[in-house]
Amino acid sequence: MDEFHKIRRLPLYVFEQVNRLKASARAAGADIIDLGMGNPDLPTPQFIVDKLCETIQRPRTHRYSSSKGIPGLRRAQAAYYERRFGVKLDPNTEVVATLGSKEGFANMAQAITAPGDVVLVPNPSYPIHAFGFLMAGGVIRSVPAEPGPEFFRALERAVVHSIPKPLAVVLCYPANPTATVADLDFYRDVVAFARRHELFVLSDLAYAEIYFDGVPPPSILQVPGAKDVAVEFTSMSKTFSMPGWRMGFAVGNERLISALTRVKSYLDYGAFTPIQVAASAALHAGDAPIEEVREVYRRRRDALVDAFGRSGWTIPSPNASMFAWAPIPEPYRELGSLEFSKLLLEKADIAVAPGIGFGEHGDSFVRIALVENEQRIRQAARNLRRFLETADETLHNVIPISARR
Ligand SMILES: Cc1ncc(COP(=O)(O)O)c(C=O)c1O
Repeated sequence: MDEFHKIRRLPLYVFEQVNRLKASARAAGADIIDLGMGNPDLPTPQFIVDKLCETIQRPRTHRYSSSKGIPGLRRAQAAYYERRFGVKLDPNTEVVATLGSKEGFANMAQAITAPGDVVLVPNPSYPIHAFGFLMAGGVIRSVPAEPGPEFFRALERAVVHSIPKPLAVVLCYPANPTATVADLDFYRDVVAFARRHELFVLSDLAYAEIYFDGVPPPSILQVPGAKDVAVEFTSMSKTFSMPGWRMGFAVGNERLISALTRVKSYLDYGAFTPIQVAASAALHAGDAPIEEVREVYRRRRDALVDAFGRSGWTIPSPNASMFAWAPIPEPYRELGSLEFSKLLLEKADIAVAPGIGFGEHGDSFVRIALVENEQRIRQAARNLRRFLETADETLHNVIPISARR
């Protein structure tokens, strides 16, 4: 029987192939060092857990909650934006809480996309940035993930050649998977372009607080006039090590926020109230808990770049995000990222995310997530050294020349 139309547009996650191999290697007793999925391993700070436990004792918090977020939570997010970015938001009309930023992004796509609408999405990108719109019946046109002149040339070409004219452009800085950061001048140019061409801008700022070199990533909403065209998504998952709690936000343009709020009002009753109350406490807690998280990732980044470099794999040091975007080492480059990732798993007990899973332009890279401690990262580097030392043998024995691309 033919596959359902929507399911045909959702190929099995490439990462699933690596995950399956990982599961069978583990079942066979291998000690896999898992730097694959961006799933934070740090515990949620205790004061947030305590707030949840305290709140859950109150039976009236057990009822359906509020789909757009309880007022106190929306006010807490507005206060965070004012403190961190100097951006004023109206908690009633410019803030909506989401069940993680991924849900918010996907339902925003549902809310605003008509069949055949063209959306400009970086390639490589976090998968929901493209698939959210594909699921909603839209069409994707790729633009570069680097925020440089070529990005704007691609936007210019897109508005001239796309039929219909593009609806929106997606941004994500600090970027998953490339860890690239953008500055306020870039956002200024994007906002000017978007206003001129009547494009919406969807900015994913999930890594707002995970930065290492003293320069906090800006919000696009710091640009005067950005609210005319832009919404921004943020997440509690990385900032407060709360990935399982499913709490994020969309803020900005009133019309877009209202559209998302409407769709969500049909779909969900909001996160469990104690989670929303605990999230409010986190947002009001100031910078100390965030700095602790940032420091852990910074040390892991340094350990990764240093130890992998000494083992023979030079990895550009990321300035932000919880990822390194690593070019496949020379002898393996021809294999492509999926085959290389499988080999790394089988021969070095290291799991990474193949770049092809983020789009065709990611295939010369793998993404390494900083989700194991420094000791494990150094262990991975020792495994890696042995793996790289035997590259010739491995390539000849494992992959016949005819199977190489
Ligand atoms: C760029 C980006 N956006 C969104 C998410 C998902 O965040 P959340 O847990 O808030 O849904 C991730 C998670 O990896 C991400 O990398």
